[in-house]
Amino acid sequence: MKRRTELITGLDVDTREDALAAVEIAAECSWFKIGAQLFTRCGPAVVEAVRDRGKNVFLDLKYHDIPNTVASASRAAADLGAKLFTLHASGGKAMIAAARTAVEGTDTRILAVTVLTSLTDDMLRQEVGLPETAAEAVPRLARLAVEAGAHGIVCSPREIAMVRETVGPAPLIVTPGIRPRWASKDDQARIMTPREAADAGADMIVVVRPILKHKNPPEAVRLILEELQG
Ligand code: C5P
Repeated sequence: MKRRTELITGLDVDTREDALAAVEIAAECSWFKIGAQLFTRCGPAVVEAVRDRGKNVFLDLKYHDIPNTVASASRAAADLGAKLFTLHASGGKAMIAAARTAVEGTDTRILAVTVLTSLTDDMLRQEVGLPETAAEAVPRLARLAVEAGAHGIVCSPREIAMVRETVGPAPLIVTPGIRPRWASKDDQARIMTPREAADAGADMIVVVRPILKHKNPPEAVRLILEELQG
């Protein structure tokens, strides 16, 4: 069966007003990503405000800590009503398993980040001390995360096929780095269109600037949703 790929609009803004204005202008979208920038400025109240508008929240705070702390934070994310949240797969199996136990019985799902796409192979080797390239580390960490209880993986568009092959059909795959043909690339280098990402096996795509910087944001959302459905 062909999977339906969902659109997530990222709320990469500094204030509650800007966040709620973005929710308003992207009203056709049902998922919104709140990351460290907005959360650090506005706290849990902004999550509640987005939820109060009937939207699903993806809390992208990328937890990476001892299992007990990550478990408590995961439970807090679930209690806050975040439907999805992120942690780093490199935190290890015990950390991910503790997070999974903490959200059991809720409808909150865990996404694991494998290797940040901002890290090059040289940085991984020389700075992080990994003997692997990103192309080797990503599938290994994706497998580890799913085996430990993560419900899905965040990866770049070019990794979708490799991750899908590694984790099988069930786990969610969520990807940023998406640009419709009509949008500017901004600083994203290795991009895919919404359709290409959907065809490669993404369950959800994260898009920010092509929507929020569009001269007619509701039209941008509509075009992306149409492309995903097409
Ligand atoms: O504006 P744009 O659509 O490029 O925003 C993409 C979103 O995904 C931003 O919130 C960005 O921080 C995030 N992201 C990314 N690339 C990654 C990981 C996250 O662009 N590798």
